[in-house]
Amino acid sequence: MPNILKDKVAVVTGAGNGIAKQIALLMGKEGAKVVANDLGCDVNGRGSSKDPADATVAEIKRAGGTAVASYEDVSQFDAGERIIKQAVDTYGKLDILVAVAGILRDRMVFNMSEEDWDAVIATHLKGTFNVVRPTSIIMRQQRSGRIITFTSGSGLNGNPGQANYGAAKAGIAGLTRVVARDLGKYGVTVNCISPGANTRMIAAIPQGPRPQGLQVTDAAAQFPGPEHIAPMVCFLASDAAANVNGQIFSVMGPRISLLSHPRPIKTMFKPGRWTVEELREFVPKTIAAELKKAAETAPQVPAQ
Ligand SMILES: NC(=O)c1ccc[n+]([C@@H]2O[C@H](COP(=O)([O-])OP(=O)(O)OC[C@H]3O[C@@H](n4cnc5c(N)ncnc54)[C@H](O)[C@@H]3O)[C@@H](O)[C@H]2O)c1
Repeated sequence: MPNILKDKVAVVTGAGNGIAKQIALLMGKEGAKVVANDLGCDVNGRGSSKDPADATVAEIKRAGGTAVASYEDVSQFDAGERIIKQAVDTYGKLDILVAVAGILRDRMVFNMSEEDWDAVIATHLKGTFNVVRPTSIIMRQQRSGRIITFTSGSGLNGNPGQANYGAAKAGIAGLTRVVARDLGKYGVTVNCISPGANTRMIAAIPQGPRPQGLQVTDAAAQFPGPEHIAPMVCFLASDAAANVNGQIFSVMGPRISLLSHPRPIKTMFKPGRWTVEELREFVPKTIAAELKKAAETAPQVPAQ
């Protein structure tokens, strides 16, 4: 049995389905003791069931690994603390947190209800904070640990109909960069994955033009399986990735990319302060010279 995570203790949220299930299974095979957390809700965050978390735990055990189920709802602050406490109570320590749990409630922003906004922000953004916070206390004290969060092309580049989801996922990228700086000096690394994988979540995105011109049915079918994401997460969770911190990696099938951080690509400057009149004259000729009409200026999603 491979053992890059031998004797490590890992919490994986959202581990009942899709990407996180594959991460939990591979971490179990790599020797980690796993707390597999999943609320067992539908893709919109409704309902709950113990079955998905139980099924993942059973599969890890069948493969010879060690795991325990958690059915907590990551969107609840106290639940985050209970998930992390369960890891320490059950296995004596915590080495790895992988925060993956998520839902979708896609609507164009003008049709989006407050409830749909709140549910998605609570599950993704606050749900990540809710487990990162208690984890950070433990890892800072023990001066070691690995945290891996999940963002999305929707948050990094923008995707129509996903104002709630894109905002939450961009927030997770920002949270990752900040917490990497907070904890890096204690030997704790915090990195982020922007995945692409054929899961029930991708299949749930309403019909319409998708990034790179794909229709959603095509997109779901053309996305490679979620098992491609797990090896990179296991690497980042291992001792071998000690020098990787505050980074975002795009992972889709066998293609793994290190993404750039936002940086200036064109700059204009004058001593003193620009007037509006000067900006009206110079912006179109300089930093905005190649920008197109408003409807076309939404950031194009590059092949990641
Ligand atoms: N699949 C992709 O191509 C893709 C693309 C970009 C980002 N992502 C991100 O990757 C992550 C995994 O997505 P997936 O495609 O595997 O989705 P999925 O729907 O297959 O799995 C998500 C899991 O999270 C669980 N969950 C939802 N709310 C929860 C809560 N409050 N508490 C605990 N568990 C909860 C669900 O029960 C489900 O098992 C998500 O964060 C998603 O935003 C996925």
